[in-house]
Amino acid sequence: MNNKTILKKELYKCFSNEMVLLHKSLNYHWNLKGSNFLSLHEFFKKMYENFLENIDNFAEKIRQMNFFIPQNTIKLLKFSDIKFVQKIENQNKMCLDILHSLEIQYKRYYSLFNILEYMNNQEMMDFITQRMADNRKFHWMLRSTLNI
Ligand SMILES: [Fe+2]
Repeated sequence: MNNKTILKKELYKCFSNEMVLLHKSLNYHWNLKGSNFLSLHEFFKKMYENFLENIDNFAEKIRQMNFFIPQNTIKLLKFSDIKFVQKIENQNKMCLDILHSLEIQYKRYYSLFNILEYMNNQEMMDFITQRMADNRKFHWMLRSTLNI
């Protein structure tokens, strides 16, 4: 695989994971039940707003690199290494699932970052660095909520 193909594949994987994280946080915001409802409902809202705000920016940066965004969402989601769950009702399990998903995405940011560094794409490296910082903040908040 040449550099362009490797970059494209990593961008799609990372972008696809962002889509899954956006949908998961939105869904847990809606379907949440339990004693921590109010705080977790707000937390998941902050999370999906963050992903929503950044996904358009991410897509436009991919376009600036002259790659297209797959128009078939089912095909796009096949690039994701974060899996959707069948059904989670327990609030702690929702938090654990998001925590695990954030960890998968953190590794994905890291491998994309290395490719961007090799290609000397400073602007995109800055964007991914900010996504990594946001990821760590959500990760810390969830760990604190779960007391782990
Ligand atoms: Fe809402």
